[in-house]
Amino acid sequence: MKLEEKVAIVTGGSGGIGQSICQRLAQEGAKIVIDYHTHSEAAEKVKQKIEQAGSEGLIVQADLSKVDQIDNLVEQSIDRFGKVDILVNNAGLEKRADFWDVTEADYDLVLNLNLKAVFFATQAVVKHFRATNNQGKIINISSVHEELPFPHFTSYCASKGGVKMITRNLSVELGPLGITINNVAPGAIATPINHDLLNNAELLKKVTNNIPLGRMGEPEDVSGLVAFLASDEARYITGSTFYVDGGLLWNYQEQ
Ligand code: BGC
Repeated sequence: MKLEEKVAIVTGGSGGIGQSICQRLAQEGAKIVIDYHTHSEAAEKVKQKIEQAGSEGLIVQADLSKVDQIDNLVEQSIDRFGKVDILVNNAGLEKRADFWDVTEADYDLVLNLNLKAVFFATQAVVKHFRATNNQGKIINISSVHEELPFPHFTSYCASKGGVKMITRNLSVELGPLGITINNVAPGAIATPINHDLLNNAELLKKVTNNIPLGRMGEPEDVSGLVAFLASDEARYITGSTFYVDGGLLWNYQEQ
């Protein structure tokens, strides 16, 4: 097991990719703080899976757009498990709209969760790492859309591009403290965020035709890499983005 004695916070731990990350880190021995916003039953199920894997879980409800609730999440984690070693900034959402129709409310929803929460959750955990001299690890679940345009999802792309630069910037600023930060950037993964796509056979075919490996990814395709980046084996890796996309990002062909 790679993560014995470690404590990991996973934001959005009740959701698609988040569930799989919680389970996988628990299988590696980590104690898991499952942050969730809306789906308490799903969070309970994740906790059970963590316990079945022989580890412990703590469920914390938070609205990550509020810095005081982020701070409370980190405080509760420390109260329960004594420390935090790993932060996985996984929570995220997207809103589809033509650019000219995007509302302020939807823009705020996307940017507050996908970018502001990553910034301040990382800040809260880094304060704890500094205070305890812990060479902890931060892993952001970004997207291929930190690089790749995604028409009608401009706020989402802006948020993920921002996460890319948070990671690059902090790799430099936190490196001297021995803290690493990396991005895992999924492509099209079969989770609820892709509900519409998964229920539209024609669109799904178009998407999979554009993926060299010929299929959507599974959450487990992502969580194995997260477990590696959270482990000591990844100690010399920081400031990098790792794509888990079946080859989608760099696929260009003439028909
Ligand atoms: C988005 C999905 C999209 C995928 C590939 C992800 O970041 O959340 O909606 O299907 O990228 O384009």
